[in-house]
Amino acid sequence: MQLLTLPPSPSLATSIRATAQVFEDPRSQALLAHLQQVAPSEASVLIIGETGTGKELVARHIHNLSGRRNGPFVAVNCGAFSESLVEAELFGHEKGAFTGALAAKAGWFEEANGGTLFLDEIGDLPLPIQVKLLRVLQEREVVRLGSRKSIPINVRVLAATNVQLEKAINAGHFREDLYYRLNVVTLSLHPLRDRPGDILPLARHFIRTYSERLSYGPVELSLRAQAKLVEYSWPGNIRELENVIHHSLLTCGDGEIQAQDLRMSNLRLERQEEGPAGAGGSVEDLLQQAFSRLYEEQPGELYEKVENALLRSAYRFCHYNQVHTAQLLGLSRNVTRTRLIAIGELVVNKRRSQEQPLDNRVVRLSI
Ligand SMILES: Nc1ncnc2c1ncn2[C@@H]1O[C@H](COP(=O)(O)OP(=O)(O)OP(=O)(O)O)[C@@H](O)[C@H]1O
Ligand SMILES: [Mg+2]
Repeated sequence: MQLLTLPPSPSLATSIRATAQVFEDPRSQALLAHLQQVAPSEASVLIIGETGTGKELVARHIHNLSGRRNGPFVAVNCGAFSESLVEAELFGHEKGAFTGALAAKAGWFEEANGGTLFLDEIGDLPLPIQVKLLRVLQEREVVRLGSRKSIPINVRVLAATNVQLEKAINAGHFREDLYYRLNVVTLSLHPLRDRPGDILPLARHFIRTYSERLSYGPVELSLRAQAKLVEYSWPGNIRELENVIHHSLLTCGDGEIQAQDLRMSNLRLERQEEGPAGAGGSVEDLLQQAFSRLYEEQPGELYEKVENALLRSAYRFCHYNQVHTAQLLGLSRNVTRTRLIAIGELVVNKRRSQEQPLDNRVVRLSI
């Protein structure tokens, strides 16, 4: 078993993140070999993977294997800030640059100087900031907000995303030139279900780490518990496995984790029992999948779009009967009628005081 130990990160003290990595499955070993090749270079790396697949861990590992290992590693979640805030945070600001800028502050680029800047959820970066980021990467200098002075920077940038940026580029949400700048090397992390050889080694790794923390003696996994772990589809990937193991340690007795101690989320179990993800599943699952696609494919104004689609499809389902539609949705007839008119499903013919459903109804979003 391949276990790599990394120095603990003080900023992540509440979890065991970034202290060790397991790469056992052939796919993970191939990834590790690729990672070891590219880490010592200065190349920008784009790390792609579903949630919980270990993107941040891989970024830290690249940093630790690079010539910058003694410099800072600064991790930033680009999706966690508003546009104005992310700009000030990335590039820094002078005193008085905007209301509330009481003192001058270095940005993340300056803080990461001599080290690595990890831009997580890069797909969430607003377009105007993408332009500025590209300029900084090209010119290797930053200008703080409210200043005219350029500050030279020496930073390696690693970026991560859990969405396909190509789609975001096609939809006009992500700049192609920035994409090529960041994506000199791509590392794709497979979901845990596609690297089953990692499941048990990871489980044992988490058992060891958490039982040490809890001051337990050695804890084993029963055979049925092992089978349950291997058979599950792990939609939340390694983070979900970590949580399940942690929880099972709290409930298991006498040094052995049984199958019933492993509590995966019900929603996800249902999906698994009905076959591979995407084939069947509960209504909530299907909705969840449809929503996830919408988040990726049609961001912006989603609330209204989904509400309109729900109204249209219910109206159609009730054969264009307003009263039944209102009952079905649990709305008053008045609200239903007003909304149907607003979305153009119902036209009021004032002269003859008749209401008619439109013939050219289109249910644009089918969920
Ligand atoms: N190869 C690995 N070996 C051991 N632990 C791992 C490995 N990969 C990930 N982990 C653990 O799994 C958890 C999730 O990893 P990480 O936060 O890096 O994932 P992520 O892809 O950045 O997730 P998200 O998309 O939700 O931000 C962390 O606690 C991390 O320590
Ligand atoms: Mg992450």
